Amino acid sequence: MKIELKKNKVFFENQGSKKEIHPFWLRERVNGDNDVDKFSHQRLFDPTKLKENIDINNINLTDDFLEITFSDGSCTKLRVQEILKEFSNQNEIEYINKVKWDSSFNVLNNYEFKKNFFESEEMYRALINFYEYGFVIFKKVPIKNNFIVNFANSIGSIRRTNFGEFFNVKSKPNPNDLAYTSLALAPHTDNPYRKPVPCIQILHCIENEVNGGLSTLVDGFTVTEKLKEDFPNYYKILTKTKVRFQFIDQTVVLEDRAEMIQLNDKGEFKQVRFSPRLDFVPLLDKDKLELYYSARKKISELYNSNQYRIEFKLVPGDLLMMDNHRLLHGRTSYDASEGNRFLQGCYIDYDSTEGKLKHLKRKFNL
Ligand SMILES: [Fe+2]
Repeated sequence: MKIELKKNKVFFENQGSKKEIHPFWLRERVNGDNDVDKFSHQRLFDPTKLKENIDINNINLTDDFLEITFSDGSCTKLRVQEILKEFSNQNEIEYINKVKWDSSFNVLNNYEFKKNFFESEEMYRALINFYEYGFVIFKKVPIKNNFIVNFANSIGSIRRTNFGEFFNVKSKPNPNDLAYTSLALAPHTDNPYRKPVPCIQILHCIENEVNGGLSTLVDGFTVTEKLKEDFPNYYKILTKTKVRFQFIDQTVVLEDRAEMIQLNDKGEFKQVRFSPRLDFVPLLDKDKLELYYSARKKISELYNSNQYRIEFKLVPGDLLMMDNHRLLHGRTSYDASEGNRFLQGCYIDYDSTEGKLKHLKRKFNL
């Protein structure tokens, strides 16, 4: 990728194809002190009020900068790297490759919590790790009731749901969700019935005196890739069939329709939803339903098999941050008479982690 000049025109060259950059595209990027506010980085002018037929009067290109004077008298000095970055049209997060893992994965991504942790280079590395593996565990996080709210809001903003700003995971009478019992929870994703589905779940262990109640994780990305390779028909129907997910309690009815495996606009993995107590497939033709049921059974087998699941015990002070669009989580059963098991949970969205990661990258010039 490079920038070239010819007469008073700017060209962008990429893999043999050369295209002119519209002068207006460059004009609306003028960045002098009178054009862009130094603190908010917001434009001080309204580009919709500019004349459309703006031309370039003068240009100069060095290794690092493109200097332009426009026909309306404005001039600017743009960083070549910034222009190239806009043409690659890829978010910094998309460059982070997902690492597939299965039950043999035993390097749990641990980071010790410290003072000023959220503004540290280590936090940047933890977030990169989160995007690579879909989870990260913070150790020695202060065991204070509700500290989770503080933690989540130090990365970005908490995503409130009908379970509240945060929720207490411990067994209680007449629960509105099986999470609030001591029963085993098979691998699932949370809130598949919500639009949009909360992106990231955070679980903070306050007390854990029981022998069971191990936390379990499965990489939905690894399983999806496996299904695509070995059972392409199943993969196809699960990526094409929109299923209704629902949650009903005394105060609310939540519903959404989405594929169990959702792909992005490039046909790549985007998100999995799996909660077989809450999903309702539409009334499709019998042969399609037959294929759908076999596909769901197979993916359930894979999600539940020992081959893909990791199990570990959260101890007080541990805080697990996991990608609810990629990973499935669950727990083994426990005996509530052995003692207390108390976790606090909440959700945040990708804009929080992305925003934090980009900020730390800029701060430490990484
Ligand atoms: Fe859950």
